[in-house]
Amino acid sequence: MAAGPPVTTDVGRAVEVLRDGGLVGLPTETVYGLAADAERSEAIARVFAAKGRPTDHPLIVHIASADDLDRWATAPPSARILTDLWWPGPLTLLLRRSERVLDAVTGGRDTVAVRSPAHPVAQAVLDGFGGGLVAPSANRFGRVSPTSAADVVADLGSAVDLVLDGGPCSVGVESTIVDLAHGQPVVLRRGGVLAADLSDGLGVAVGHVGDDAESVAPGMLASHYAPDAAVVVLDAAATDAQVRTAVAEAGREGRPVGLLAPRRVPDLAPSVVELDPPADVEAYARSLYRCLRQADLSGIDTLVVVPPPSEGIGAAVLDRLVRAARR
Ligand code: TXA
Ligand code: MG
Repeated sequence: MAAGPPVTTDVGRAVEVLRDGGLVGLPTETVYGLAADAERSEAIARVFAAKGRPTDHPLIVHIASADDLDRWATAPPSARILTDLWWPGPLTLLLRRSERVLDAVTGGRDTVAVRSPAHPVAQAVLDGFGGGLVAPSANRFGRVSPTSAADVVADLGSAVDLVLDGGPCSVGVESTIVDLAHGQPVVLRRGGVLAADLSDGLGVAVGHVGDDAESVAPGMLASHYAPDAAVVVLDAAATDAQVRTAVAEAGREGRPVGLLAPRRVPDLAPSVVELDPPADVEAYARSLYRCLRQADLSGIDTLVVVPPPSEGIGAAVLDRLVRAARR
């Protein structure tokens, strides 16, 4: 096997790699990103190639703080309200782009997605680098996002030049994306910041796009975040008996089955691989992608999942699970 990329905690080295037009696996509070200089088209082309991502799926520009927002976008008053409330943090704003933004970043759209990540390592890199960094999740296109440095190495190998190890991600699912560029604010991707939170902050109703959102946000594909194992999502209110039935159905003909649920389910067949039940919705979000990866590592054919209650970040977890289940 080819040697993987160096893994380090040396922020200065990461900044040098980025200045040279290289690719860095970067910890953020949501998931690990594949960072590159947002103003170098060769670096951006390498990002798309490393991920195997179609070039019409636009990238998020990461910046150190809201002070840099005007360089990248036209920010309406609503954007200032939201950055005061949530930046740095897991909230991405979709805004009208500025002249500076390369077509390669936005797929030629007239909007740009911008976020300021809260992870101290991401902040240190942005401070040292001085400019904007594109950073899509550091996984192969359509697959499970990475929440540790080891995940980035496993997914991208030497397609990335350096991986910064900032420990496991504290949020665990990607940022909320809110569209402020097309009139009424709308959530394009669910995350830890809820539409209801945004409504409270802005004093106007904020809705969600439906499943037909493909034209607005090309990354919102129906099937995404998918492990090799088939994923079967039950109702959050499924009883123990219903879970046992679903597990037995998935495991017919001796196929290996796993279970991810917010509680232990008694009387499962001994062959069922039970992933550790997360203690609450936040823990569920934090461990979701690790569990999906673990399912593949343990050779499971089908992972049966009882989602968390749809409160708080639980709705974002359910959204990812539903996409992981689609083929
Ligand atoms: O939490 C996150 O946002 C992570 C971390 C690393 O910051 N990044 C991330 O990037 O999830 P990515 O590329 O995996 O997802 C970005 C999403 C895609 O679905 C993309 O289509 C959408 O943002 N997006 C970016 N720019 C857009 C634009 N101009 N118009 C519509 N959608 C856009
Ligand atoms: Mg992604």
